[in-house]
Amino acid sequence: MKMKSVKIAIFASGSGSNAQNIVNHFNSHNNIEISLILSNKNDAFVLERAKRLGIKSLTFTREELNSTSRVEDILKENSIDLIILAGFLLKIPVSLLEKYPSRIINIHPALLPLFGGKGMYGMNVHKAVIESGQKESGITIHLVDEHYDHGSTLFQAKCVVEDGDTPDSLAQKIHNLEGEYFPKVIETFVETNLLGEE
Ligand code: GRF
Repeated sequence: MKMKSVKIAIFASGSGSNAQNIVNHFNSHNNIEISLILSNKNDAFVLERAKRLGIKSLTFTREELNSTSRVEDILKENSIDLIILAGFLLKIPVSLLEKYPSRIINIHPALLPLFGGKGMYGMNVHKAVIESGQKESGITIHLVDEHYDHGSTLFQAKCVVEDGDTPDSLAQKIHNLEGEYFPKVIETFVETNLLGEE
């Protein structure tokens, strides 16, 4: 029985190392395609990565995301089934959540519900974890809802926070976890929830 193909759009605001990992992971996958990389930052390095990887990329402004149908139109025109937020710093508007119920996945570089919420991104998170004296940190991959870092958790992986760790050394440990697990969690999610018979 022919399996349908699933088209994924990645939203990213920054460097895009996760986006690149995901693209590479699905390069040879028959039924899953990374169709688009979108950013709210014209100068985000993720756009350079998209160009080198041969993935169509587009940018949009915060206003377009929140006050127009442009982003939704782009996703519809490209038959996108699933949205992955990989270092995307804007809140997803309700209108987009309604178009993609349980079909928007985010990765957060800490063990939610700890160290999440508005302003908790990038090094802010790792600094807070180190300062708190926590002995472990990790990643949380979760469905997105109308609150920051709040939707149901799909997966978590942990790493030890050692006495000598700095925000930078912790960031590297987290980055390694992201590279190891994010693409696989997406693949499992798609195979479980989206890939079915035509
Ligand atoms: C990652 O730490 C991810 O957990 C968080 O934003 C960062 C994105 O890094 N959501 P990159 O742009 O993928 O390199």
